[in-house]
Amino acid sequence: MTERNATESTTPARNRLKTAASARWNDERSAEMWGRYADDVTQHDDRQAWEAIITDVVGEEPQQVLDVGTGAGFLAGLYAGVGHDVVGCDFSESMLDQARERAARDGFEATFTAGDAEALPFEDASFDVVTNRVLIWSLAHPGVAVREWHRVLRPGGQVVLFGNHPEDPTRSVGERAIRRLYGLALRVRRDGAATNLDDRTQREWNDAKTDLPFRHAPPSKIQALFDAAGFHETRVLDVAEEFDQWRTVGPWNERVPWHVVTGHKPD
Ligand SMILES: C[S@@+](CC[C@H](N)C(=O)[O-])C[C@H]1O[C@@H](n2cnc3c(N)ncnc32)[C@H](O)[C@@H]1O
Repeated sequence: MTERNATESTTPARNRLKTAASARWNDERSAEMWGRYADDVTQHDDRQAWEAIITDVVGEEPQQVLDVGTGAGFLAGLYAGVGHDVVGCDFSESMLDQARERAARDGFEATFTAGDAEALPFEDASFDVVTNRVLIWSLAHPGVAVREWHRVLRPGGQVVLFGNHPEDPTRSVGERAIRRLYGLALRVRRDGAATNLDDRTQREWNDAKTDLPFRHAPPSKIQALFDAAGFHETRVLDVAEEFDQWRTVGPWNERVPWHVVTGHKPD
């Protein structure tokens, strides 16, 4: 771990957040759930839409890609499917097991390795693309993480972040109200007997996650973080239209406006 990372990681409250996150993501049921989410999208028509966006953003030339917080290998499988060399990295061994199983079953090639998004186990300048999907909201130290992504990129390399924003202004007030009620109902159910994780892990995560610095962060906040980390030509790609046509992961099976935030490491 670099001196800078060590300094920024020592806040006890943030470290407690990270411990709760680690327990939550390491739970096998959580990994199975993310495996199912990944299959939902990649085994249906949506796959083509994702591949089109990826090719649009990173081009057709094969790149060395790092998928950080790869989970069950959702993005890893998509990048590999369009010809890139992919390493998927995650701090949850349960997720990595899922990712390896999916790769073997679906016949895509990627290397899956254990590693912390905030202290990556890779040399400086190892990758052409660092990518991730719905990761940043869950990090205790997003600023540290983004600087790590910058470090492992080659000069000229690109960061490509996929996310969705629950309070997206394109949603109507009514839709947002229904989502809030639904979220509340889910939470009541989760905090009762019918949880999908063990009660203690779930409770600790539910308590901790309200303090996550980038939970519900709009893409403009992520872009500002990329700027502060030294990325150039940062952009928020307006893909709401394209992504809105798709089914998405999650209990609603709903349509969610996704965003892509990108930037380049200077040459
Ligand atoms: C919401 S899931 C998304 C999984 C995957 N990217 C996808 O789109 O299906 C978040 C993932 O990030 C991983 N993760 C969270 N914090 C991490 C960290 N500090 N280092 C590495 N992985 C992390 C979790 O284990 C989990 O697999």
